[in-house]
Amino acid sequence: MAVNRTAVAVTGASGAIYALRTLRALLMNGDEVHLIVSGFGWMLLREEGGFEGKQSEFGNFLTDRYGVDLTNGRVIVHQIGNMAAPVASGSVGLRGMVVVPCSMKYLANIAHGASGNLIERAADVTLKERRPLILVPRETPMNLIHLRNMTAAAEAGAAILPAMPAFYQKPETFDDLADFIAGRILNLLGIEHELFPPWTGT
Ligand SMILES: Cc1cc2nc3c(=O)[nH]c(=O)nc-3n(C[C@H](O)[C@H](O)[C@H](O)COP(=O)(O)O)c2cc1C
Repeated sequence: MAVNRTAVAVTGASGAIYALRTLRALLMNGDEVHLIVSGFGWMLLREEGGFEGKQSEFGNFLTDRYGVDLTNGRVIVHQIGNMAAPVASGSVGLRGMVVVPCSMKYLANIAHGASGNLIERAADVTLKERRPLILVPRETPMNLIHLRNMTAAAEAGAAILPAMPAFYQKPETFDDLADFIAGRILNLLGIEHELFPPWTGT
């Protein structure tokens, strides 16, 4: 059976819960997740997400918190400086890449093709291979540079999916809110899900 590999990058913007719920959904779907986390991404996974272990224990943290069976979907953590990781090459089949949340720093670097680390290189490769690259920017308010960088990334082929959950699905918890974003990400990756009820009209 073909392996569905998805790259996920977590950067230092607020909203670690969006990353956690997206990882949960991908792993429940049976994806092999190639995870790259920036320095401040790890900090926010700890501060906002409650992750306390070593980086190598992150998969166990997801299993403990969400009960995701990592034999179904696997999470492979790559070091951000490892430019020799598989996701640095277009020869490795990936269904796409998600940067969630995406800081303004990474938005800028990706929009301008500055492949200085594994997150930026993997995003660059995803664009050149014409695979889905989904950026989930979070900042408010935004300045003109942020807005222009989103336009540049979209012109290069990225999907801009702002961390802007809706409320028509009547969320009751933070997880419900974050699942709206996770579900929209899965939609763009072509994965069916039941993370939120579809709008059925008034
Ligand atoms: C608590 C905290 C929250 C932050 N939230 C955001 C944010 O929402 N959006 C953003 O673009 N940067 C945010 N930043 C700033 C980035 O973390 C900072 O630009 C950092 O250099 C990103 O690079 P890194 O992910 O490589 O560490 C935040 C920083 C901290 C400490």
